[in-house]
Amino acid sequence: DKIIHFDTINSTNIFLKEHWKDLPSETVVWADKQTGGYGRMKRQWIADRGGLWFSVLFKPTNIRPYNPWHYVRLYSLAIHDILKDKYKLETVIKWPNDLLVNEKKICGILGEAVFTGVTPSAIIVGVGLNVNNKIPEELKDIATSYIEEKNKKLHLEKLLKQINSHAYYKYYLKYFKRDKISAFTKQWIKKLNIRNGDFIKIIFQNEEKRGKIISIHGDYLEVEFESGIEKVYAGEVSLRK
Ligand code: BTN
Repeated sequence: DKIIHFDTINSTNIFLKEHWKDLPSETVVWADKQTGGYGRMKRQWIADRGGLWFSVLFKPTNIRPYNPWHYVRLYSLAIHDILKDKYKLETVIKWPNDLLVNEKKICGILGEAVFTGVTPSAIIVGVGLNVNNKIPEELKDIATSYIEEKNKKLHLEKLLKQINSHAYYKYYLKYFKRDKISAFTKQWIKKLNIRNGDFIKIIFQNEEKRGKIISIHGDYLEVEFESGIEKVYAGEVSLRK
């Protein structure tokens, strides 16, 4: 597949939001360094040399389904597999999208949709994977990288290609293109850090709630609170200890 590489760019997601019309579906944009990287809720994403920072474009005719979250899951699952199978690093997926090692974030994934009509014309998946970059002291409680965990450097271009071909052949062609999204979602749910019956804490818009998971779905969790059972579509979910 096509890879566009930059030494330095503001953000690979912004690049694809500006150029998606001129590029084919499944184009990958990769940068060694980003000066204006961002994450969910427009939070700043530090992207200095050493990490793997890239975005992938999916275009209309190939978009089945339309929900950008499926593409985020595609990448969390692919990266989970590659880190485990090729580099001996166990990660868990934090609902709805990060990858964690010992509860520290090693990878963040951001899905964005570009609308020109009622259905998205483009879906952009941005991946920030901490690989050879050291984690600043002040973030060490919440973030980690491959080198921090394994004391080993990885070849970024090789890793990028492994992730993309795994995402494409193992999941995208088999499930997305064949309308088997629910089978795909089931596999993704197995790699999550939460299970049915777990007691969790959810922080949403500065409000903290505690409850028990009844069932887990791609787009929501069914949670039993003191006040009754509710569907939870967003928020920071952590296991209650
Ligand atoms: C998050 O955890 O909130 C998601 C972080 C996503 C960061 C990646 S790095 C490559 C791409 N370009 C960006 O500006 N953001 C994503």
